[in-house]
Amino acid sequence: MAEHDLVGELDAFLEHHEPDLIDFRRDLHAHPEVGYSEHRTTRKIAQRLEAAGIQPLVLPKGTGLIADIGGGADDEATVALRADIDALPISDEKKVPYRSVNLGACHACGHDVHTSILLGTGLFLARAAAAGALPAKVRLIFQPAEEIAGGALDVLAAGGLSSVDRIFALHCDPKLEVGKVGTRIGPITAACDAIKVQLSGRGGHTARPHLTADLVYALGKIITELPATLARLIDPRSSLSLVWGRVNAGGVGNAIPDAGMVEGTVRCLDDAAWQAAPEMLKNIMESVTSAYGVAADLSYVRTVPPAVNEATSTAMVAAAADRVLGPDAVVQAPQSLGGEDFAWYLQSIPGSLFRLGTRRPGSVDEIDIHQPMFDVDERCIAIGVQVMATTAMTAIGLAGGAVHAAGPADGLIDAGDGPMVAMASGNPGGVRLTGPLLAWAGLRRPAGDASRRVGILWARKENLASCPNQASSRAGPATCLPRPAGRPRMAGGFIA
Ligand code: NI
Repeated sequence: MAEHDLVGELDAFLEHHEPDLIDFRRDLHAHPEVGYSEHRTTRKIAQRLEAAGIQPLVLPKGTGLIADIGGGADDEATVALRADIDALPISDEKKVPYRSVNLGACHACGHDVHTSILLGTGLFLARAAAAGALPAKVRLIFQPAEEIAGGALDVLAAGGLSSVDRIFALHCDPKLEVGKVGTRIGPITAACDAIKVQLSGRGGHTARPHLTADLVYALGKIITELPATLARLIDPRSSLSLVWGRVNAGGVGNAIPDAGMVEGTVRCLDDAAWQAAPEMLKNIMESVTSAYGVAADLSYVRTVPPAVNEATSTAMVAAAADRVLGPDAVVQAPQSLGGEDFAWYLQSIPGSLFRLGTRRPGSVDEIDIHQPMFDVDERCIAIGVQVMATTAMTAIGLAGGAVHAAGPADGLIDAGDGPMVAMASGNPGGVRLTGPLLAWAGLRRPAGDASRRVGILWARKENLASCPNQASSRAGPATCLPRPAGRPRMAGGFIA
């Protein structure tokens, strides 16, 4: 598919397929299946893929599937796109024709939308492949059991990322209006671990605490000292937080019990801090409890690591969204302390998880994900297909303006107000930077103005310091245009 055809081809495809994809989503929404029970969902996806000549492979546990599209017979997939397919064990309380018929199960996290978008993207890519326009293989991963955090590990165990260089996924975001896409370099979701401390010691009368281990007092110390000391030992930039949710000890007011427990979660946006947390907590706990003569047992259950978006992959998503949705569509996604098992893939290979706006413009009641009334503006499905397909094309270098990693792409940058598109007078030559450029993407000529090319570049702010508006031209000395009105300050600028 020629570069200039991609947007038009997508429009033509969606004109025909959007109603069908919405029907597909509504069918999934009406028949939600929780983690590892997604048999009907898996069958429905497989049927649709097979009808398009794609041969999916069902994962060993019987739900979820993987399918490769395009490339030559001997090629291996180098780009993967992932959707999670499972529902939540909560009731659907919406009054819509596609309300869940499965009691106690609901697609309240939008995975029905993710699945429909990936299906649509796959059908589009298959069409491109049939036209001989997809010379590299793209892998679709329909992953089960995201909500119970096992599905990504099953995909990895099944070799789902073998040969894959880069992986992408999206997640519905009801805080963003439909038509917007949120990207972020670095951690976008958090590690979320479960912690439980159980204490035991000699109980007795509250009149004689000196003859007991005074377990309730020791438990109180644990509750206050563990989070406080941890906050002094861990780099605050890791956003590590220990918050208790449940505490239990004793039965009456005048007896010191011989056992007690407290439970909570540890959330964290930094991989190194996440790795260090269990040992650190154990040491703090032992130093606190040793003073009181109680025995302490720490249970620390890891769920998922932080999802850390790689710079170049994130640039690819932003470039793709910019290309199909326009320069105002891409916004900086906030960090979330929620967990997402896409993080396991990002521990293995570079990739990016982005936010897809799903909120109806002007709607006042913003219903968050994991709520029984959660629903989306279904226009987000076609938009998701546009961004996903273009991202895949960008990643395999077919969309034009493919992202070029021009320097260390694994560092975090202070993205400030987020990736931006800006304009400057055209000077041929190289980007004038005072330090390494992380990545650039999305070069194109704006309609009606052949003299300029616009795109996105990513660099550390300090390395663009020569330009007062944080932008830099391709030639030196830097030619900077004033920041366009309404544009926030940027970390990355333009290619003129
Ligand atoms: Ni989700």
